[in-house]
Amino acid sequence: MRSQARARANIALIKYWGKSDTELNTPAVGSISITLDALWSDTEIEFDAALAQDTLSLDGKEDAAQLARVSRCLDLLRREARVDLRARVSSRNNFPTGAGLASSASGFAALVAAASRALGLALSPTALSALARQGSGSAARSIFGGYVEMRAGGAADGSDSFAVPLLSATAWSLTVVIAVTQKYAKVTGSGEGMRSTADSSPYYQAWIESSQADLNVARAAILNQDFGVLAEVAEHNCLKMHALALAGRPPLLYWNAATVACIDAIRALQSASVPVFFTIDAGPQVKAVCLPEAAEQVATQLRAVPGVLDIIVSELGPGIETG
Ligand code: DP6
Repeated sequence: MRSQARARANIALIKYWGKSDTELNTPAVGSISITLDALWSDTEIEFDAALAQDTLSLDGKEDAAQLARVSRCLDLLRREARVDLRARVSSRNNFPTGAGLASSASGFAALVAAASRALGLALSPTALSALARQGSGSAARSIFGGYVEMRAGGAADGSDSFAVPLLSATAWSLTVVIAVTQKYAKVTGSGEGMRSTADSSPYYQAWIESSQADLNVARAAILNQDFGVLAEVAEHNCLKMHALALAGRPPLLYWNAATVACIDAIRALQSASVPVFFTIDAGPQVKAVCLPEAAEQVATQLRAVPGVLDIIVSELGPGIETG
């Protein structure tokens, strides 16, 4: 009743922002992501009859705040396996937790992969993806490697809300250069940010209505390996998400000065015909996505931006691995 799994972080090129059902944690829009090779969560789990409740150690520290969310996700697996045992969960990220580097994505993907194995459940990747979604929406995508599309789905029970692979990591190589501009955890988590945006941003409806068009363009660009088209739609979709969040009440500004300076540096590279584009999630880090031959130049330029604390370079990577 013990297992472990590794799942990698992913970065959305077409963003998930907004939920259609908070109970089922179904997204209001589909999304498209790339799975990163260099950023992962390693999770170990053991179900144990001697335990009165679940326990969670995150990066070596007991984490009561995340425990309730983890327990709720484990309840789904316990129900599936018809067991009522509590579990000891220990998870480590090889990157800063909670600072907009998608730790909940890799964390919940690793959790459901490890837990289902420990419980002897032979679940399909699709079923794992739907379970991971209930832990964290973006985690549904980290079940798979390479280029991944999350389907919002429309079923009342959320059963068609899961991710599907679009293209493997090796079929089209991209490199992601992450400029870390802040190392501590963010103030407004994405779940809370989405709720307040949906409730108060006047642009929320337009976001929902324009999402399918962005998904169609990005999916076709990936299947055609058309970097220019992907770059344009990904930057548009990212800025649209942030515009939506900025227009909420209270307004959400996830950027700092270095975030903007990184965007400027990437624009300067684009003017010099360097194949690179940016995307930014619910935090101040900037992810520069580029063709592999441009990675060194992009990393050098971003490292020189005032306020950039660290640079992480990653290729695209595989989906969940269990052991
Ligand atoms: C901006 O997956 O963290 O990174 O479902 O509430 O856990 P919950 O949200 P989460 O949101 C991710 C938001 C995003 C965009 C994306 O990854 O698609």
